[in-house]
Amino acid sequence: MPSIAVISLLALGLAQPSLSWYQAQVGVPWQVVLESDIGPLDLPVDVYDIDLFTTPQATIDTLHSYGKRVLCYFSAGTYEPNRPDSDEMHKNPSDIGANMTGWPGEQWLNIRSDRIVNVMKKRIDTALEKNCDGLDPDNVDGYDNDKGGGFKPALTMDDSIAYLQKLATYAHSKGMGIGLKNAGGLVPKTSTFLDWVVNEQCVQYGECGTFRPFIDAKKPVFHIEYKNQSPDMKKNCNDPDAKGFSTVIKPDEGSIPKDLITCS
Ligand SMILES: *[C@@H]1O[C@H](CO)[C@@H](O)[C@H](O)[C@H]1NC(C)=O
Repeated sequence: MPSIAVISLLALGLAQPSLSWYQAQVGVPWQVVLESDIGPLDLPVDVYDIDLFTTPQATIDTLHSYGKRVLCYFSAGTYEPNRPDSDEMHKNPSDIGANMTGWPGEQWLNIRSDRIVNVMKKRIDTALEKNCDGLDPDNVDGYDNDKGGGFKPALTMDDSIAYLQKLATYAHSKGMGIGLKNAGGLVPKTSTFLDWVVNEQCVQYGECGTFRPFIDAKKPVFHIEYKNQSPDMKKNCNDPDAKGFSTVIKPDEGSIPKDLITCS
């Protein structure tokens, strides 16, 4: 029910329809699978984080029928070949930067470009059509990689923050939540307006404390460790700096398979 304040503003003809979107709670259990084989859809978790493009609609619909919330993953800061809209990003050479180290075929995107922002807005539209509850936009820290993404001038932290603000405003206007992905340097300035953070390997790197501002803001930290790189399960599951995080352990990094090892 709208609050009295909203009703009175509406009565005055001043208010936009009040915005609301999915905001996950601290500590919710989750699953993350970025391969197309999602595995069981009825795990005892509240949230599934899955690929926006490769996940069939029927999978998303089934997850919803089980009461799950669905976060849709896409790369917001790199060009990947073989996505349905990949060609859109290669239309202007100034939009494409350096090759991304470690991920052959991926290239940094000029997140200062309105063309790139518009491609991502269309991805957010796709997420809405697919009924995603939230977004997991990856690779938003070009400023911190491959010499600022290989652009001249190099991408900056402020570019990332401005970009995330644009994506968040758009996602929220469509009723979806949106999080940060890794990019610890962005935490202080984004934990105010983003709805969660997805972190990989903060126990392994001893940097879980960096992500605590989200917990302090009553927003979840969705946390992944990779067992082949961080084999000590006691450590993975009992880091005091990761208290309250939603932790999953995956066998290895790769493409983030369905295999799930939990702490409990
Ligand atoms: C970037 O990667 C492509 C293959 O994806 C390769 O052909 C090209 O030479 C690379 N460019 C640089 C500057 O390394």
